[in-house]
Amino acid sequence: MTNDGQSDAGAFRDIDALPEPVFDLIFGVLRAMAEHPEIQRVRAVAREALRPAPGQRLLDAGAGAGEVARDLAAAVGRDGEVVAMDASLRTLAGARALTPPDLPIRFVQGDITHLEFQADTFDGVRSERVLQHVVDPDAAVRELARVTRPGGRVCLIDTDWESLAVDGIRNDLTVSLRERLLGADPNHHDDMGRTLRRRLVQAGLRDVTATPVACYFPDPVSAGVVVPLFDPAVPPEAGMIPDDLRDTWFAELAAAGERGEFLAVLTIWVAAGVAS
Ligand SMILES: C[S@@+](CC[C@H](N)C(=O)[O-])C[C@H]1O[C@@H](n2cnc3c(N)ncnc32)[C@H](O)[C@@H]1O
Repeated sequence: MTNDGQSDAGAFRDIDALPEPVFDLIFGVLRAMAEHPEIQRVRAVAREALRPAPGQRLLDAGAGAGEVARDLAAAVGRDGEVVAMDASLRTLAGARALTPPDLPIRFVQGDITHLEFQADTFDGVRSERVLQHVVDPDAAVRELARVTRPGGRVCLIDTDWESLAVDGIRNDLTVSLRERLLGADPNHHDDMGRTLRRRLVQAGLRDVTATPVACYFPDPVSAGVVVPLFDPAVPPEAGMIPDDLRDTWFAELAAAGERGEFLAVLTIWVAAGVAS
């Protein structure tokens, strides 16, 4: 399962190949997520782990719509620079269009597993909800460590989709959907969040920390912003919910919401370490 409005099509591996309405939907999802208080809570933890400071050069790898790059650019100021890197040219164009011209951000296309930066280029690097989509995440972590100067910080943020827990709706429905979605795409890492700490240790980072942020959703509308399984706007063609379950599922969700009984929890991990 992915938080991109697609179940297993690997949409985030090649956003530029998507039809325009699907791209617009996904870009809109990224924008809406950035506004969600639980995602803002995750990002506050990540900001603290990265410790941006004036004059620094920072990298956001897989920057999406660029909200964090803009926040970091304000923190590093005119004497610093933020590189907002993404594999998708369309995403970069969308992010650039949202960015005031006076912010010190450079938008760069690239692949997180083959970064075109010299070693020790950055004072700090971050990557949020990207590694779950990458075929070789350890290659990406090694690259992020390589381009970070000794003493600089590497901060990774990702979801543990296997942590998703729900209450207030029929358990057999939830179990059935979980079974169909988790593990459906062999190239998607459903467990990425909880593996980040280990990957940083194996890449040679020191002083590695990991913080689980349990995101709490007290109603299906709030949950649907972050978890596409709960979002009725995700079209049936995305293949997320089997056709035979779709109507029952969304009716159950709406009813649980009206009764005030819906609850969902999803853990997003923030892991960080210091480059040697
Ligand atoms: C789920 S979005 C997350 C975007 C942003 N970090 C956020 O938290 O809103 C994943 C992003 O990673 C990008 N991406 C996917 N594979 C990539 C790769 N190999 N190298 C760089 N970016 C990649 C996608 O284009 C997309 O913008």
